Amino acid sequence: MNELTFPILKLLSNGKFHSGETIAQQLKVSRSTVWNALTDAKKLGIEIFSVRGRGYKLPQPVTLLDVQSVLMALDTQSNLFELEIHDYLESTNSYLMKKLSMNQVHASCVAANLQTNGRGRRGRSWQAGFGASLTFSVLWQFQCGAGKLSGLSLAVGISLIRALHSFGITKAQLKWPNDVLIDQEKLAGILIEIQGDMEGPSVAVIGIGINLNLPASIKHQIDQPVTDLASITQSQINPNVLLAEILKHLTNLLIQFEQQSFVSLRDEWTQYHAYHQKVVKMLHPDGRETVGTVINVADDGNLLVNTISGELRFSSGEISLRTS
Ligand code: BTN
Repeated sequence: MNELTFPILKLLSNGKFHSGETIAQQLKVSRSTVWNALTDAKKLGIEIFSVRGRGYKLPQPVTLLDVQSVLMALDTQSNLFELEIHDYLESTNSYLMKKLSMNQVHASCVAANLQTNGRGRRGRSWQAGFGASLTFSVLWQFQCGAGKLSGLSLAVGISLIRALHSFGITKAQLKWPNDVLIDQEKLAGILIEIQGDMEGPSVAVIGIGINLNLPASIKHQIDQPVTDLASITQSQINPNVLLAEILKHLTNLLIQFEQQSFVSLRDEWTQYHAYHQKVVKMLHPDGRETVGTVINVADDGNLLVNTISGELRFSSGEISLRTS
């Protein structure tokens, strides 16, 4: 990305018109340099209106993440995480994964105002423009081995639901293993990457993306129904406050998960499962499909499904409601 793209987006974040000339003067560059930087932003899927005689404008104002605001919202819990906020990164998960070898500290949180190459599960990308999505990752060290972390992503899903509850959003549900849905449309996703021995210790990089305000152009590129917080709340949620709220719930959940395992959280998870006891189609990583009725999740977070071949247990794959 052009090095001027983000500074220009920052100027535009107040949602007002800025002429090419004023931007050029403020950043001490030529108007064609401004134009090139904005072209790069558009290539990333960021919507920018340009009106002859008035200049450039974002569809709506964008509240930027900043360390002070998150710490203020964390209040007495501001020491929970080592917090870094970047203007832009390719992917907050990739950033923390690279740092693993450099002994990045336990409970680090890295957020980005703009992710240029966000990654999703199963090799997908996570599409997010500027201000469209809250994107961050947390690094957490566990004394237990990687083998004991199979229910972790489900536990993380609970922390998102609890955080949404504190904003009065009570309709959110989970889809195994960890998508957050509202009325069957995806609001948030979780990508967990683990390193370590089977016997322990191990480290997890927990990446979370929550749709804040997705432009129609991005919504159309996503191959499943999606929603965002702007569509379901009347008031704007400040992403700094949202991040702080999630970090508080996430800490509690991660501590409980390590001390008491996923079993202690299973009833709560089941209560939020959008597909509990529903007939679903399971798409396996190798392309096979299985139809069955969801029974529950097992102690380790695996999905238990009743099929014509009996009860089957799945550790990975993707489920969808069977419609026919
Ligand atoms: C999914 O639903 O497929 C998981 C999406 C996870 C997206 C988040 S955004 C922050 C973090 N960095 C990434 O590159 N991905 C995760």
